[in-house]
Amino acid sequence: MISQAERDRLIVALDVEDVATARALTQKLGETVTFYKIGLELAYAGGLELARELKAQGKKIFIDLKLHDIGATVERATRQIARLDVDFLTVHAYPQTMTAARIGAGAKLKLLAVTVMTSYDDADLEAAGYAFGVEALVTRRALQARAANIDGLILSPLELAAIRACVGPDMLLVTPGVRPAGAELGDQKRVLTPAQAIAATANYIVVGRPITRAQDPRAAAALIVEEIASAR
Ligand code: C5P
Repeated sequence: MISQAERDRLIVALDVEDVATARALTQKLGETVTFYKIGLELAYAGGLELARELKAQGKKIFIDLKLHDIGATVERATRQIARLDVDFLTVHAYPQTMTAARIGAGAKLKLLAVTVMTSYDDADLEAAGYAFGVEALVTRRALQARAANIDGLILSPLELAAIRACVGPDMLLVTPGVRPAGAELGDQKRVLTPAQAIAATANYIVVGRPITRAQDPRAAAALIVEEIASAR
């Protein structure tokens, strides 16, 4: 028997263009999937309304808006998201942004900080004016997130082990870039399997296309849930 808590560790990214497609997908996935991520694309096309609908069905919702603005705006925007009664929200890991989001989030909404976008390498950071390379900046921001009482971090699967050692056991580590063995990589370059990600102390894994573009999404999700449960 797979427990609810184990099932919740798979977050399915609803990266589709419109709410009707997303809704159809959640209907196909049924009871197999209990946690969904709504990102920028769907949020701008009615995704926040869909979040309410899925919450009413008992699903958990991760709103991936990667907020970053002046503190007052971040605080107020975060408060609006908290009113949706969703579960996770992402913000960029800038100290001012994280402090403001913490105030706006209240006690229930969990905040996840994005340290450094995984599409950035050292040269991209230098071009953007940073004095740190990726590894140093990820570590610095992970520690700043912990100091700002942020609940968790979004990380590349290959950063999990090092960052867990750095932030300790209480921070939630959430990782995309997960591919079942044998699945197509798509544009993901640095991947782990679900079992490897769990072994590397991920609390949650985010999977999109290997489920959403599968012939049988429900079967694809069920296999990943089983892999997570057996990796404990
Ligand atoms: O389809 P796929 O499994 O690659 O989807 C992964 C999800 O995680 C997408 O919503 C993507 O935007 C997100 N993500 C990612 N890599 C990051 C941060 C977020 O793939 N570094």
